[in-house]
Amino acid sequence: MTKLVKNIDKILVTGGSGFIGSNFIRYISSHYPELQIINLDKITYAGNPENLRDIEDNPQYTFVRGDICNPKVVEDVCRKGPQAIVNFAAETHVDRSIGSPEDFLKTDVYGTYILLEAARKHNLRRFVHISTDEVYGEAEDAPSTEDSPLYPKSPYAASKAGADRLAWAYFATYGTPVVIGRCANNYGPCQYPEKLIPLLITNAIEDKPLPIYGDGKNVRDWIYVEDHCRALELLLFTEGIEGEAFNIGASEEHPNLEVAEIILNILGKPRSLLTYVNDRPGHVRRHAVAADKIKAALGWQAAMPFPEGMEHTINWYIKRPEWWRKIKTGAYLEYYRQHYGQLHHSNK
Ligand code: NAD
Ligand code: TYD
Repeated sequence: MTKLVKNIDKILVTGGSGFIGSNFIRYISSHYPELQIINLDKITYAGNPENLRDIEDNPQYTFVRGDICNPKVVEDVCRKGPQAIVNFAAETHVDRSIGSPEDFLKTDVYGTYILLEAARKHNLRRFVHISTDEVYGEAEDAPSTEDSPLYPKSPYAASKAGADRLAWAYFATYGTPVVIGRCANNYGPCQYPEKLIPLLITNAIEDKPLPIYGDGKNVRDWIYVEDHCRALELLLFTEGIEGEAFNIGASEEHPNLEVAEIILNILGKPRSLLTYVNDRPGHVRRHAVAADKIKAALGWQAAMPFPEGMEHTINWYIKRPEWWRKIKTGAYLEYYRQHYGQLHHSNK
């Protein structure tokens, strides 16, 4: 397989001010200094311009604040001439999707439709859709493969499954050059502290309780965000993979309790901070993906071992308190009190 990079000199990244999108833009801009990057982001509560402060004056980078659900906004950015879209924009937190699913359906499904229409109209050369391993639902007996059925269990996962299949339908129906990445749980710098790892790290630093849902034995398959970005680089630039979906994962399955213990150990905090709270409704017991396809087809593999990735991540949150302390105020605290305040807490 050859690289398409010569034919793509401008890309549209959506949701580039969030966790993975900002890591991706930083990675791509440092490896492809000639590439123009337009970031279209609505800046929801999870979007954060601070994530890209260091490259906002870089001439290869343009930021546009706007909603992917708005066809006019999307048309205006497509007129700037990108040859490819990398679609990260989404509502992403499972707990919030349980409380209010509507925004998930709007952005994750309808927003993806608006972008696919734009890709079709402008004959774009590549549409990388960022899906998730959550589309599979439970990985009961073995890690999910690309051929596993999709049984999403939360409104978030169901919205992402809708978008994933809609993107593929555009390939099948119109020949839109869609490529789909279904990645496992990411961790690393700039992750909004409502997700497990940054929530536990920042709470532990502040000597606050670490909320563990249910018995803490639910398993997630963790991947360092830069490993995901390297996989997406291949999905963006490799020729001949249109219409394909690829699992992306590092085979790092860990129960939530083990993740919490690693954080407490690295930070030197006591186990008494662990607090069991009521379980999440529809809580998936195990997410895990087999990444054999991307390894064999594209030669990708994860480079970061989990313990080392956790050290890096924890150090980043230690060094950047202003980044997360600013977030953990106002609307965040209100969400936190509302969500965790109603749950029963226990230390065993
Ligand atoms: P995030 O919540 O940190 O960032 C989402 C970004 O999208 C934010 O910057 C937000 O402002 C923007 N956005 C939301 N709605 C928008 C809209 N209507 N128009 C324009 N921008 C909008 O999420 P993340 O963790 O970086 O996830 C990025 C993508 O990766 C998502 O599609 C998610 O489903 C997928 N994914 C995430 C993980 C993970 O572990 N975090 C794993 C697999 C896949
Ligand atoms: P999360 O980071 O929300 O990602 P996802 O639900 O998309 O996998 O949650 C990861 C795991 O951690 C999941 O099993 C739920 C659990 N969890 C807790 O135990 N406590 C918490 O406060 C949160 C937010 C998650």
